[in-house]
Amino acid sequence: MSTELPSAYKQIEVEPASRVLGAYLSGFRLDAVSNPDIYEEIRRAVDEFGVVFMRDQRMTPEDYAKLGRRFGELESGHVAFKTTDDFPEIQHITYEPGDSVYANHWHADQTYQKRPAAYSILRAVKVPSRGSDTLWTSNDHMYQTMPVPMQEMLKGLEVEHDLLYNSARLGGLQDPEIFGRIESLSRRAIHPAVITHPRTGRELLFVNVLQCRSFVGVQESINRDLMNLIHNIIQLPDLQVRLRWAPDTVAMWDNWSTMHYATFDYGSCSRHMQRLLVKATCEPSRIAS
Ligand code: SIN
Repeated sequence: MSTELPSAYKQIEVEPASRVLGAYLSGFRLDAVSNPDIYEEIRRAVDEFGVVFMRDQRMTPEDYAKLGRRFGELESGHVAFKTTDDFPEIQHITYEPGDSVYANHWHADQTYQKRPAAYSILRAVKVPSRGSDTLWTSNDHMYQTMPVPMQEMLKGLEVEHDLLYNSARLGGLQDPEIFGRIESLSRRAIHPAVITHPRTGRELLFVNVLQCRSFVGVQESINRDLMNLIHNIIQLPDLQVRLRWAPDTVAMWDNWSTMHYATFDYGSCSRHMQRLLVKATCEPSRIAS
């Protein structure tokens, strides 16, 4: 992921958003794509920048689901978020005052699955006039930031990802009905701590705050200290980009090479986002180097 030298894009305009990750894309309408190469350039920009932002993209639910399908098969229905029979792929992430939240911890989407989504797409429907920004960080820059001996140690480790363990510990997911539904599903997976991205070939740290329970086979007290150390690295502001939402802003990110954090600073306001998850075609793994 590099924002130094954007490669040539012919169909879209690309404006890097920080020195590390993120770019604003413009010059096209997602509900009336004039040239299919636009989709390929968007995908390339996601490879290059990790997350891309597209402003003023008014869309019907039909347009939105169609957009997602251009990037792969979409997840259908969701255990915690509302979906409708017409558009089961569109996950409605809503907040009303008093609801519990849990996306305000660094995470990638659904890493407790054997194949976490390859891409996430998020569209703002209703957002507070101020606040509710989302931040992303770069998992490959994070890995590159670490001293080589630490990279080597992490390469030998696997991590247990478990949705309920940390969500309960961090205070989210308190709705007993949702909790019960999730408990009955598979919500646990083991992934390498360092993975190779299947498209870019880059090595990435694949550990997040919200869903990672422990390093496999590591004694509890060492585990706790190691997780805390990784969590400190994850918080590094130098590796982040921050999006201020407006209605009809669309963000699309690589769910393996980035993590995100949804700020929760808008307790008395409502928020409504629509999310699509594009399925991965393989499990996260590491190609030994
Ligand atoms: C998510 O965690 O996928 C949603 C982030 C947000 O609501 O800003």
